[in-house]
Amino acid sequence: VNDSLTIQSSKGPYSVHFVKNALSYLKKYPEDKTQLIVDAKVYELYKNNFDCELPAYKTTLIEAREELKNIDQASTYTRMLIDRQVRSDHTLIAIGGGIIQDITCFLASTLFRGMKWSFVPTTLLAQADSSIGSKSSINVGEFKNLMGTFYPPQEIFTDLQFLDTLDLADIKSGIGEILKVHMIKGIPYFESALSDYSEMLHNRLVLKDYIHKSLVFKREMIELDEFDKGPRNVMNYGHSFGHAIEAATNFAVPHGIAVTIGMDMANYQSLKMNRVSENQFKSWHIGLKKNYHSFKNVKIPIETFLMAISKDKKNVGDGLSLILPQDLGKIEKVIVPNNREFADNCQVFLDIYLSS
Ligand SMILES: NC(=O)c1ccc[n+]([C@@H]2O[C@H](COP(=O)([O-])OP(=O)(O)OC[C@H]3O[C@@H](n4cnc5c(N)ncnc54)[C@H](O)[C@@H]3O)[C@@H](O)[C@H]2O)c1
Ligand SMILES: [Zn+2]
Repeated sequence: VNDSLTIQSSKGPYSVHFVKNALSYLKKYPEDKTQLIVDAKVYELYKNNFDCELPAYKTTLIEAREELKNIDQASTYTRMLIDRQVRSDHTLIAIGGGIIQDITCFLASTLFRGMKWSFVPTTLLAQADSSIGSKSSINVGEFKNLMGTFYPPQEIFTDLQFLDTLDLADIKSGIGEILKVHMIKGIPYFESALSDYSEMLHNRLVLKDYIHKSLVFKREMIELDEFDKGPRNVMNYGHSFGHAIEAATNFAVPHGIAVTIGMDMANYQSLKMNRVSENQFKSWHIGLKKNYHSFKNVKIPIETFLMAISKDKKNVGDGLSLILPQDLGKIEKVIVPNNREFADNCQVFLDIYLSS
């Protein structure tokens, strides 16, 4: 495994550095031109490291809650930075998971029409997926990631040590995105990731390998289609369903776990459209279920779910824009009529497969 990975973007290349003791790498940022935006929980867990590792940076603590990743809250965060004398030539440094990243990236891309930012991802989801790709996403009410920008960071320092304090559900959330990108790379990659599932959970070296592979596979898509105009759309596999699950449960299901259920639902829809065989669906279902088993009893009210999926930002006209796999062939975008049949398929999935 290389210890650095570079991504090309319209704003220039940026790199992920796999390092030990990530915080020590931040010392090169000058004290008077740097502002930290830190997950309050991460700060609590690692504050001793912060104290001895870092200069006296101005630090804004943010609670990583999906309900606070929204457009109303964004102006509160902006105020907090203004109170700390933020200037356009400062660099914002995000330390936390995908929520802190999305907020920081959004602020960096809009405040003063753009300032620099860098990132220390502390969750598996952020390390294996969200840290690259330059998207920021902000919720509007219960509608997920409806607003956002494309705005890459200067650099990313990935330190697997942070994963030691992560809840199991958040490890599984990250594995959800790892499984997703492997399906996009191709069915054999997806199936080998499914068969390595318990290794990934319990062996850090195996996990590191999957983090690295996930970034390499994602890089292929984002370098091909940085602004998500075509080929990159497939990265949304599991996400239309997943975002609707997050909305319908008031974000009780972590993002990557909602995406795992979402992939299973997309596969079920594919079965109903004769894109995959019953055996194929069932064998993938057994694998995916392991990753969302502990959420199988969560209540997903069908009406709220259907309302949310019909408002997904990728939809065109009245059709639902879904990313669906195929037994023989490539995963692709399919426009599916938003009708009774679709609703019934979702209902049957929730009744039979989610909780079984
Ligand atoms: N911008 C993108 O490209 C992109 C891609 C995928 C997901 N996302 C977004 O990312 C978000 C999910 O990210 P996430 O899973 O990292 O969630 P998160 O940022 O909410 O972190 C999950 C939980 O882990 C805690 N935490 C973080 N680091 C920790 C550590 N080292 N030890 C212990 N606890 C820690 C957080 O406080 C939080 O409670 C969603 O909002 C999703 O929409 C964005
Ligand atoms: Zn995601």
